[in-house]
Amino acid sequence: MTAAVIAKLEQMRAAARLGGGDKRIAAQHGKGKLTARERIEVLLDDGSFEEWDMFVEHRCADFGMGEQTVPGDGVVTGHGTINGRLVFVFSQDFTVFGGSLSEAHAEKICKIMDQAMKVGAPVIGLNDSGGARIQEGVASLGGYAEVFQRNVLASGVVPQISLIMGPCAGGAVYSPAMTDFIFMVKDSSYMFVTGPDVVKTVTHEVVTAEELGGAVTHTHKSGVADLALENDIEALLRTRQFFDYLPLSNRQSPPVRPSPDPADRQDFSLDTLVPANPNKPYDMKELILKVVDEGEFFELQPDYAKNIITGFGRMQGSTVGFVANQPMVLAGCLDIQSAIKAARFVRFCDAFNIPIVTFVDVPGFLPGTAQEYGGIIKHGAKLLFAYAEATVPKVTVITRKAYGGAYDVMASKHLRGDLNYAWPSAEIAVMGPKGAVEIIFRQDLGDPAKIDARTEEYRQKFANPFIAAHRGFIDDVIMPHGTRRRLCRALAMLKTKSLENPWKKHDNLPL
Ligand code: HXC
Repeated sequence: MTAAVIAKLEQMRAAARLGGGDKRIAAQHGKGKLTARERIEVLLDDGSFEEWDMFVEHRCADFGMGEQTVPGDGVVTGHGTINGRLVFVFSQDFTVFGGSLSEAHAEKICKIMDQAMKVGAPVIGLNDSGGARIQEGVASLGGYAEVFQRNVLASGVVPQISLIMGPCAGGAVYSPAMTDFIFMVKDSSYMFVTGPDVVKTVTHEVVTAEELGGAVTHTHKSGVADLALENDIEALLRTRQFFDYLPLSNRQSPPVRPSPDPADRQDFSLDTLVPANPNKPYDMKELILKVVDEGEFFELQPDYAKNIITGFGRMQGSTVGFVANQPMVLAGCLDIQSAIKAARFVRFCDAFNIPIVTFVDVPGFLPGTAQEYGGIIKHGAKLLFAYAEATVPKVTVITRKAYGGAYDVMASKHLRGDLNYAWPSAEIAVMGPKGAVEIIFRQDLGDPAKIDARTEEYRQKFANPFIAAHRGFIDDVIMPHGTRRRLCRALAMLKTKSLENPWKKHDNLPL
């Protein structure tokens, strides 16, 4: 090999690394954004990145594009490791044609997705793009659809994570939408199907891009995104942490991170977590934080449908998905948003062999026309469906209320809950004492003393876990301070659980 050949290679590599050039890189930095390559450096372990298709160029000759080619064509792709575990990555380069997606750009993304599925490793997409490469027309649209198709085939096979770190608009949003998790960067990213200008023309609403589709909007209002992070660095570092909870594929178990936290650690403060007054709220997060290894909990969608909590923690080092009603918000009742939020989470856990621990304090479904007209029947059914079809280990602890249909939904014994525990404060019934007495003793409503007596009678009979325990719907009534110990034992016993649903092409989840 001559020195000239080597020099030529180095020159070509340097050109690819420069992307859209110094001026555009400075503009990218000026917006507080890292470049596509800088992002990959933060995301992956030092020196682990193996780049593919650095010399790929677009094939468009229209609109003067023949003279404008940039090696790599606006997306950096390849594989590397996060804390030593394999991951495939694509990172769109806004400095090259605004990160817009050409046919060649799409082919590069598809290539790593195909390989990720073959070897069984997650795909992380760093999105920063002006959308379809306008000069390429339908070739670009075809490219998007090729990516979409792979998103769907990869769903449930390898975890897919999208980071939105710049524009993501029009049909382009549907690739992240079909991935498992979306993290957005505040102030510099947005996602919408139609932008503020079209919105103004069609609906006469005046709205900024940030209001319409920024990180805060999608983590508070729409629920499209799972987390809003302050900047690129925070988003990438949080993604590294998050990645450590996930298995590489549906053929693998979640990773185990040995923990010094003893499995039999007791926490006596939990004995007073549930207030004596059944109508007083308490913070369910406290329970999660006190049972997981080292108090570390990775919450998803913390600002959306806060009446249910979802996220990952570890028990004896192994990843566990937690779902918990939050009595601090809407008394922890189930509504459309919380049912959808939790259903999607449960389905992810089930697809990727992650055991589910459910903490229940649910007074029922939220009443009202808004909920009924919004389709709570179908949306509530999503959570029921998700729990019922899940074959991973399911351990449930009822801390207080488990009323009505919501009792059934929240990973009850009848939905193949493996271990169903209740604290002594649990109340498992068709409804709360007041509502029940007003219906079954309607004739006594004019006599407060009688009603009080009836209410007390009902409370004595049903507002406890023992009726359910007599029937075996509750496997044991446990002391709150021993919750971690009991959960760890249950999960250890369930490590070899094997359960299969009947063969089917796919189910028909109520959408
Ligand atoms: C080709 C594009 C481009 C695109 C941006 N650029 N978007 N080139 N196709 N879609 C180029 C610009 O020409 C410019 O080139 C450079 O990228 C940076 O763009 P600016 O406009 O200077 O940046 P900024 O002011 O930050 O604005 C970013 C932007 C804007 C908001 C994304 O560029 C924009 O509105 N772009 C068009 C978005 C769009 O309508 N896309 C199609 C959506 S439909 P130079 O050479 O000056 O640096 C779609 C359908 C997908 O995506 C369908 C899937 C089914």
